[in-house]
Amino acid sequence: MSLKVGVLASGAGSNLQALIDQVHGRDGIEIVAVGSDKPDAQALKRAGTAGIASRVFETSAFGDNRGARDLAMADWLSGLGVDLVVLAGYMQLVSPPFLEAFENRVINVHPALLPAFPGLDAVGQALAYGVKVFGVTIHFVDAGVDSGPIILQRAVELPGARTREQVFAVLHELEHQLLPEVVHMFGTGRVSIDEVDGRQVVITA
Ligand code: GRF
Repeated sequence: MSLKVGVLASGAGSNLQALIDQVHGRDGIEIVAVGSDKPDAQALKRAGTAGIASRVFETSAFGDNRGARDLAMADWLSGLGVDLVVLAGYMQLVSPPFLEAFENRVINVHPALLPAFPGLDAVGQALAYGVKVFGVTIHFVDAGVDSGPIILQRAVELPGARTREQVFAVLHELEHQLLPEVVHMFGTGRVSIDEVDGRQVVITA
């Protein structure tokens, strides 16, 4: 089995790096594309170092038309044979035509235990609420905000955490375990969505 992965990232790209280090080139899994909305994203440099094709898709280059930008991005990824798209710190919503092009093949990593704290600044939201348990969710992307079927979650008790830095120090480590784990599951054909309710994600052993 082979799996070609495209990663979209806006920032530091530490999750991209975890994928490069842990799954790229193993068990038929290959990261073939890294796209970004930000020309200065460190993720692009990481792609270059790993010899992975990369491209910038700034909305301004498409007359501020998000749909047109996303279609160009989908064309580029399809042209490279991408089977699975991973949003790894990609700070844009992807529009419906993109999701149609990659139906049930776009996943995201979110730094909270969904459905709690979707959207921006999830960790800030959780801190403001005063939760004692934080966590990470890897989920399918649908047309809503962090609302797609959940693939994998892991929780961590941090009763004394008060700052984003304290929480992210732990959550980043969790993300860097979970995301490669999930991509490996896709690479070995173990992930499917229950056809009856369209909501339960089934992971086979
Ligand atoms: C991660 O914390 C992820 O949960 C969120 O954005 C951050 C990206 O970090 N969606 P990095 O760019 O992978 O270092």
